[in-house]
Amino acid sequence: MKKAYRASLLRFDAAGQPLYDEDGLLVVGPDPDGGQRVIDAGPFAAVASRHADAPVTHWPGRIIAPGFIDMHVHFPQTDIIGAPAEGLLPWLENYTFPTESRFAEPAHAAEVAGFFLDELLRNGVTTALVFATSHPASVDAFFEAARGRALRMIAGKVLQDRHSPDGVRDDTEQSLIDTEALIRRWHGIGRLGYAITPRFAPTSTDAQLRGAGELAARYGDTWIHTHVAENKDEVRWVRELFPAARSYLDVYVGFGLMRRRAVYAHCIHFDDADRQLMRETGAAAAVSPTSNLFLGSGFFDFEGAQRVGYHHALASDVGGGTSFSPFHTMMAAYYVGREGQTKPGLSLAPSQLWWRHTGAAAQALGLEGVVGNLQPGCEADFVVLNPQATPLLARKTARAQSLEELLFAMIVLGDDRLIERTVVSQALLPA
Ligand code: GUN
Ligand code: ZN
Repeated sequence: MKKAYRASLLRFDAAGQPLYDEDGLLVVGPDPDGGQRVIDAGPFAAVASRHADAPVTHWPGRIIAPGFIDMHVHFPQTDIIGAPAEGLLPWLENYTFPTESRFAEPAHAAEVAGFFLDELLRNGVTTALVFATSHPASVDAFFEAARGRALRMIAGKVLQDRHSPDGVRDDTEQSLIDTEALIRRWHGIGRLGYAITPRFAPTSTDAQLRGAGELAARYGDTWIHTHVAENKDEVRWVRELFPAARSYLDVYVGFGLMRRRAVYAHCIHFDDADRQLMRETGAAAAVSPTSNLFLGSGFFDFEGAQRVGYHHALASDVGGGTSFSPFHTMMAAYYVGREGQTKPGLSLAPSQLWWRHTGAAAQALGLEGVVGNLQPGCEADFVVLNPQATPLLARKTARAQSLEELLFAMIVLGDDRLIERTVVSQALLPA
């Protein structure tokens, strides 16, 4: 049955420009998969007359906006948010690997996966690209939890067969067998997708990276998900381990791991040849500013990404990242974009920060027209924002003179309190 929602309505055009209807109407209806899709959207006065048969839910004073997309996040690191370390490598050794070793246990993995997904939803995130751990049970637990909530989620088993302690290190051959079995079990089941997930080049042998590249070629619509050029000590280490590669990113090219739907977290210590590779292959950067500031990794070059023109979109990177809230991530992206002074042509307008966490993320994932926007045909995953959620938000948003001022007030002052509700398409997935 058709349903309509009346409130202010935020969408984006294909170029990423915001479309805003102060009094808007979003009309959704069933799709053949058992979910809900957007049928029509726009000003109430124009849209309502075309759908007299649809019952209207009215949310006065509220804003409907696309569900946020988190381009890179680790569900097993939920419990190590805010673990202090001198930098990435000691943080991995002292906190991350010991914490992840517990995910061999299915009951533990299931408990954390459920908490994690509920936390995403409380923060208005409806789709995410997610690291599990090296244990296949962690992937099963995650996808079971996502299926139970009817969410569009992408995840995969971490591949790490060297330079990793007992408890998280996997076996080269078995890791590839497990990956293929998990692809067959989960990829394309309802709204779920599989990501082939080498942790990062230093913790995989050549044989494991080669096997990952072969699977990525054989299963061409899966995702690839890894880390690159996050931290200077890490970059130095990669140079020692792979002396023949032109750059860190070039290691992945050599193993067939750059293509459309390949997502690289961080991409900080890049040169223009790396940026050009990203552009030519259609790979995407998952920009994780709260993580990069917290771990002291560096500053993503938004100007470079826009000048060369490659896919880049925003991510929390919890638990290196410090918040599940897209508002906190957008705020940190703004700070990072200001570093060294904003360069000419750089566009970090509030609406562009918002776009990088919704529609641009969908494009980066090859999911444009599916999620990340509220144009007709998109799955009906959306948030309802309450700009009166706190006294200061109410005061500041009431004074906004333009859409950019309104969006910026929410980015600067917003957190989970701004998300009044999160609505997901409710696709009914096969058991
Ligand atoms: N590089 C390799 N593993 C990780 C991880 O878990 N988090 C971050 N931020 N970087 C990594
Ligand atoms: Zn990460």
